[in-house]
Amino acid sequence: MSNPSLLILPGDGIGPEVMAEVRKIIGWFGDKRGLNFDVSEDLVGGAAYDVHGVPLADETMAKAQEVDAVLLGAVGGPKYDDLDFSVKPERGLLRLRKEMDLFSNLRPAQCFDALADFSSLKKDIVAGLDIMIVRELTSGVYFGEPRGIFEEGNERVGINTQRYTESEIERVARSAFELAMRRSKKLCSMEKANVMESGILWREVVTRVAKDYPEVELSHMYADNGAMQLVRAPKQFDVILTDNLFGDILSDCAAMLTGSLGMLPSASLGAPMANGRPKALYEPVHGSAPDIAGQGKANPIACILSFAMALRYSFDQGAEADRLEAAVEQVLADGVRTADLLGEEGVTPVSTTEMGAAILAKLDASL
Ligand code: NAD
Ligand code: IPM
Ligand code: MN
Repeated sequence: MSNPSLLILPGDGIGPEVMAEVRKIIGWFGDKRGLNFDVSEDLVGGAAYDVHGVPLADETMAKAQEVDAVLLGAVGGPKYDDLDFSVKPERGLLRLRKEMDLFSNLRPAQCFDALADFSSLKKDIVAGLDIMIVRELTSGVYFGEPRGIFEEGNERVGINTQRYTESEIERVARSAFELAMRRSKKLCSMEKANVMESGILWREVVTRVAKDYPEVELSHMYADNGAMQLVRAPKQFDVILTDNLFGDILSDCAAMLTGSLGMLPSASLGAPMANGRPKALYEPVHGSAPDIAGQGKANPIACILSFAMALRYSFDQGAEADRLEAAVEQVLADGVRTADLLGEEGVTPVSTTEMGAAILAKLDASL
């Protein structure tokens, strides 16, 4: 049988820096665990624009459709700020999500014990936190029509449209209920049904889907209250289901509960492929971090944990994913910190590569 295939798209800014550490970890699983992948690498974002004049070449898109999983670093940066909207780096990522139809974006926020002191919130509010945000990823205001900047009288108007069909809501809701069944059977759906028709439909469809999951305790919350509750008492939640834009914002907010945006991985999943596994793209929640790019300061953990999610959701290697997550946890427990995780007096931050090496050493020790 051939090896499972993995397409790596490091992208821009700190993307290639954190991905270099992930590549070492992928190599480790091949050498030490006999888990070999056919790895190919390509360009996305500004890096693709520099070469091809577009943020995602058609050939790269075609490759992404064929592989078992895609692993992406980050896209974007000030160098590309003035580009035409249609070729901005972010469009490359959005095209991947849309054309691969990755409708269910899992963004776990877990507070490792060793970091409970470094969240911007009090320790007892975040210690032991383990929540999962399920963000709809292929529709809503990110993609709805009409959209654009138009002339209207003697001024211009910018238009985006929030649009959800029942089937789009239903499929992401089902994925969230399935997850809830494997976790603590509690799901909170967030929208703004008080002011948006799409929110009314969202609530209706989610309530209907819930009938197929009678064991799951479903609640609804307006997304603005949800943002407040996430920082007031985040442990009241287990699975949070929400739309594309609210999910983008709420997941960055949840990131700070864990200590740093540099900690949060994600999995974007679509419909099952012929092999029964979902079409999938894995990426850290953070962006290209232009303020620290090129300085060896980036925390590679979000990207490394994204690979752990790939092991679990695309390659049926839950035990190896546990091994990798445990290695990360042990390194943090030892007090190893990249600069974004600093809070203690007198701790010298390690570089991106030193963090990668520390995790590899823990993997070695796990054998
Ligand atoms: P960002 O996530 O890149 O950075 C926000 C802050 O968090 C910065 O201070 C940064 O230094 C810090 N940070 C992020 N990741 C870190 C890490 N791994 N280690 C240490 N610190 C980290 O968000 P931004 O500054 O708003 O956006 C910069 C660019 O990235 C923009 O072009 C944006 O569109 C793009 N972006 C891309 C993605 C993606 O590729 N999925 C996600 C978000 C933003
Ligand atoms: C994210 C990012 C993206 C989004 C951008 C870069 C397109 O912020 O993955 O969270 O808005 O979805
Ligand atoms: Mn975001």
